[in-house]
Amino acid sequence: MRLIFLGAPGAGKGTLASTIGKEIGLPQLSTGDLFRDAVKNGTELGLRVKGIMEKGELVPDELTVALVRERLGRADTAQGYILDGFPRTIPQAEALASFQRIDGVVNFQCGDEVVVRRLSGRRICRSCGAIYHVENMPPRREGICDRCGGELYIRDDDRIDSIRNRLRVYQAQTEPLIGYYRGRGLLHDIDAEQTVEKSLAQLRKVLKKLRKAG
Ligand code: AP5
Repeated sequence: MRLIFLGAPGAGKGTLASTIGKEIGLPQLSTGDLFRDAVKNGTELGLRVKGIMEKGELVPDELTVALVRERLGRADTAQGYILDGFPRTIPQAEALASFQRIDGVVNFQCGDEVVVRRLSGRRICRSCGAIYHVENMPPRREGICDRCGGELYIRDDDRIDSIRNRLRVYQAQTEPLIGYYRGRGLLHDIDAEQTVEKSLAQLRKVLKKLRKAG
């Protein structure tokens, strides 16, 4: 199954993609993670995108599409995948449609204030990428990952000025994709303001429907 997770920053796409991906055996392809790896490794791509990401702006479409195209050419995507954070603009969606057929788009509905609270409390494991929240999903020991004992850190773009800008960018450039995919009969809304368990239950129903239709 080829899926897209669409939604505002902090709506919970990464959290649910990681859990459901393991459950149904599909790789989670997060463009944000791919860019952050490039920054961490100091590659040419990383140097180009570092400042853009810190401000909460979008990386240019041609760089992003080339990265995704290369990633989707790898063997682990043969049975399907979850695209987490891509596409984020209409030109990215059109480029994707020119080389991939998508089965469904899950739209994570979540209001701005919830997003701000989630992102300002987010902590991520430097070693395994596990996602926590200081109030909603705290680790057992402060600053330490439950899964692997790695150090938890705060993303550079999870500062309040950057969060507000990411929300503006989302509304201007990504929200139009809701109409784009709804018009193509591919969109499935889930209420992402609920607990993780409730959102997951709703997501499982969407996937069941997609399996029946396919
Ligand atoms: P990216 O990494 O994709 O960031 P994002 O879309 O802003 O999304 P986030 O990772 O911030 O949020 P999420 O929805 O995954 O939420 P999470 O599950 O972590 O992109 C970063 C940057 O890379 C972009 O700004 C851009 O510069 C660049 N980029 C990436 N893709 C691009 C593209 N296609 N084109 C151009 N540029 C691109 O959850 C958030 C917090 O909430 C966590 O703490 C979690 O524990 C908590 N939480 C989650 N769900 C719940 C729940 N149900 N209840 C309570 N708490 C919850």
